[in-house]
Amino acid sequence: MIKVITYGTFDLLHYGHIRLLERAKSLGDYLIVGVTADDFDRSRGKINVQQSLMDRIEGVKNTNLADEIIVEEYEGQKIDDIKRYGVDIFTIGSDWLGKFDYLKEYCKVIYLDRTEGISSTDIRSQKRAHKMGLIGDVPFLVKFLKESQFVNGIDVVGIYSNNIEIIPDEMKNLPCITNDYEELLSKVDSLYIISHPFLHYEQIKQALEHGIHVLCESPIAIDPKQFDELNALAISNNCVLVDALRTAYSMAYERLMLFVKSGGIGQVKSVDATCTSIRNIDINNKTELARTWNSICDWGPTAMLPVFQLLGTNDVKYTIITNLAESNILYDNFTKIDFIYPHAVASVKVAKGVKSEGELIISGTNGYIYVPAPWWKTDYFEVRYENPENNKRYFYQLDGEGLRYELVDFIKQMDTLSHDKYISEKVSREIVNVISDFYNKKNIVEI
Ligand code: CTP
Repeated sequence: MIKVITYGTFDLLHYGHIRLLERAKSLGDYLIVGVTADDFDRSRGKINVQQSLMDRIEGVKNTNLADEIIVEEYEGQKIDDIKRYGVDIFTIGSDWLGKFDYLKEYCKVIYLDRTEGISSTDIRSQKRAHKMGLIGDVPFLVKFLKESQFVNGIDVVGIYSNNIEIIPDEMKNLPCITNDYEELLSKVDSLYIISHPFLHYEQIKQALEHGIHVLCESPIAIDPKQFDELNALAISNNCVLVDALRTAYSMAYERLMLFVKSGGIGQVKSVDATCTSIRNIDINNKTELARTWNSICDWGPTAMLPVFQLLGTNDVKYTIITNLAESNILYDNFTKIDFIYPHAVASVKVAKGVKSEGELIISGTNGYIYVPAPWWKTDYFEVRYENPENNKRYFYQLDGEGLRYELVDFIKQMDTLSHDKYISEKVSREIVNVISDFYNKKNIVEI
């Protein structure tokens, strides 16, 4: 019996896939098809796959061409599979010509002509791409624009800025560069906002009133009432309003959360997160001050994220200890927030005028999680126990600081109009609540 093996993502199964499978099958008597796992695709940079692994397997199964379907989960697995299943022929489309010659050591390798004119990528991009506008801090927007190019389904078409003279070269080709916000809103169906938090409420409100979806850097507002109003407006106008906290979308962070929530370190008793980055600011320069995010707005949402995601938002008391640049100017050089829950505590330290070790530690009754600095670009974490022999280390590739995964999720939410958010509304609201207390000098101690 001649055994043949082939591999692929098989997203949105199309004619090109079926032709490939038919020809693969006819090369032998038994066809094994390896379908790539979501994580494996993500780790090799294929982030736009639309169907789940189960749906893609179902698609291959329904062709009735595969005698056996396996899941491809790791780099180098092909060698293992060929040996394990006693494979005689490895075959794949000619887009991979030469790439798998190293398998000739183990079996015959045959490249089949790829069917012209069709691919999953084409089908995905034929779906209407969302037209996106950008507002805010230009240096970061350049990064954002670059990252958006990795994602199918988003087309950045414009930028709104008060200062269009200083638009960097990378953005000069955008079809709409304007200092008229209404003009931008008339050209887009979605918006990414990274303007100063004081401007968020008005900008988001106006966008939602035009039926435009919004992805906004956290905090979405600095007043919980305004936050509620915006969320209600989003629902009534069939829009999504999403907190842009890219750390949440890194695979290592997601896995870490799942590990802890499934009891991997016992009951969580303490969460300690520190985020700092020195930024010298001239507080007498009003323009600079109005543009610059203070420590609590810039870092607070990220630092509070694991606290609220793990310990919840109910029954929490907190004290905000802050060092202001000047008492009447709410620009904090350094802020520490101590949270007390009925059965746990947490602390976050955020600063733009003080430097510290940017680590995250989650302490539980059986062990603890340690994420080294800079923890907010999570790609690695350690689980440590009393007996060091039980310690575990996890690494997951992080591309684009989580931005591209955040965008993929935003597109999914826009397409499904889902209000079931990965960063829950409760978590976003509690972040706003704490920041609002800071501005209202509630629960606050100045040092
Ligand atoms: N294939 C083919 N002809 C096509 C598309 C794919 O022969 N028009 C083959 C590929 O060469 C591979 C298998 O089908 O052997 C699975 O490919 P996959 O990467 O899943 O499909 P693509 O359509 O190429 O997907 P994408 O656009 O996401 O890369």
